[in-house]
Amino acid sequence: MKEKWDNRLAFILAAIGSAIGLGNFWRFPYIAYRYGGGAFLIPYLVALFTAGIPLLILEFTLGHKTEHGAPLAFGSYRKNWKWLGWFSIAVAFGIVTYYTVIMSWSFIYFFHSFSLSWGSIPELFFNKMVLEITDSPFNLGGINYIILIFLIVTWIAIYYSIYHGVKTVGKVVYVTVILPWLILLVLIIRGITLPGALEGLSYYLTPNFAALKDPTVWINAYAQIFFTLSVGLGIMIAYSSYLPRKADIVNNAFIIGFANCFTSFLAGIAVFSSLGFLAYQTGKPVSDVVASGPGLVFVAYPTIINMLPFANKIFGALFFVMLLTLGIDSAFSLVEAASKAALEQWKKIPRRALNLLISIIAIIVGLIFSSRGGLYWLDIIDHYISTYGLVVVGFLEAIFIGYLINTKSFQDYMNKQSEIMAGKWWLYSIKIVVPVVLLVAIVYNTINELRTPYEGYPKLALNFGFAFILLLLIISILLSRKQRRL
Ligand code: PHE
Repeated sequence: MKEKWDNRLAFILAAIGSAIGLGNFWRFPYIAYRYGGGAFLIPYLVALFTAGIPLLILEFTLGHKTEHGAPLAFGSYRKNWKWLGWFSIAVAFGIVTYYTVIMSWSFIYFFHSFSLSWGSIPELFFNKMVLEITDSPFNLGGINYIILIFLIVTWIAIYYSIYHGVKTVGKVVYVTVILPWLILLVLIIRGITLPGALEGLSYYLTPNFAALKDPTVWINAYAQIFFTLSVGLGIMIAYSSYLPRKADIVNNAFIIGFANCFTSFLAGIAVFSSLGFLAYQTGKPVSDVVASGPGLVFVAYPTIINMLPFANKIFGALFFVMLLTLGIDSAFSLVEAASKAALEQWKKIPRRALNLLISIIAIIVGLIFSSRGGLYWLDIIDHYISTYGLVVVGFLEAIFIGYLINTKSFQDYMNKQSEIMAGKWWLYSIKIVVPVVLLVAIVYNTINELRTPYEGYPKLALNFGFAFILLLLIISILLSRKQRRL
């Protein structure tokens, strides 16, 4: 018998569980900060409505209709498009290799919470004590064993979470979804009452219309939406393939899209108020009070935790446990999507052995991010994978559904399933808005990057980042060929 979700709530929670993750608490705040705070929010919201939700609906329909993982879902319409499914899974796999390293940092912070060891300058602590960071990406500085150990622990946790398959996923997420909202509430209350918080908040919330002219901000907004909604990763296709035959699609996509982005928005309030506080303390402007990289939130959250009136240590520990639980259901959604795709191709492999294999390969790739120069690589790969991997997959998905198949019957199926209809606006998004906006963003971004290297990294390092995406693409094409011969 095919595996199915117990009920609608289990599906929604699992999908929200996949969506809400470090993308909301870690990635969103630093990307928003990097691209100018108030300059980012508008493109972000536009991206949610013009691409995030339409593509979420698309992926739910695709999974539900075909009852397959990503490669076969595309392949069941057009055989030679299986590679797109594999590519989305390869991209997701690429993400999870560094995503779990950030979970490893969170583990380390969990232990440090008990003594608040980050002290009064959390940025220094993060760079010097936790990462022991080197001065450039080409100076790897050897493996940081503490990070590696917790990376392995993280993978063990992921492996056991999905030991019994999708049914347990539905249960684990009850805990991993509700707890974060409560904790966030406490952080926000303390955050916004800190001196200087208002300045941070106004940096975050005051729209900067001039910045809307900058396509870099736009491509990053779209990339962040895909990342955060787990769209373009094959995950939502796999999850919706487990939905019962009678299930709603459009409504679910809205619930998940809103719940997810609202969480990011709240995390932004906590983080930016703490940045305002840091600006107040140091006398620097909010815009350059900390480095705007992947380490940002490991400075911002500890700052608020320090300032809690009581129970700082316990609360700190609780917060980092929360980050871990949030990360874990996102990470296992990915393993689930990858293993579903692989099992559909090689029916004979035992699922657990496959999950083990995925975990081991991910740890091996993760070695680079666990090195002392790993932060730089994490930043570079995250950038390439989201702007060229995720955004490209989103673009191609829209082309595929909008032009290469019978879009009308696809949409009819979708609407027959749903309580609310996705009408013309959905069609226009898929046929016109998504392809045009993403194409412009991709082309402009490429030209721009050839001129100004991303974040001033050495060109060679950036070429490695790009080569990584190409490698994922080649692997995907090879995997889809293999499948055809079988
Ligand atoms: N949506 C997830 C998040 O925001 C991203 C993700 C999903 C990452 C699956 C890896 C695997 O955290």
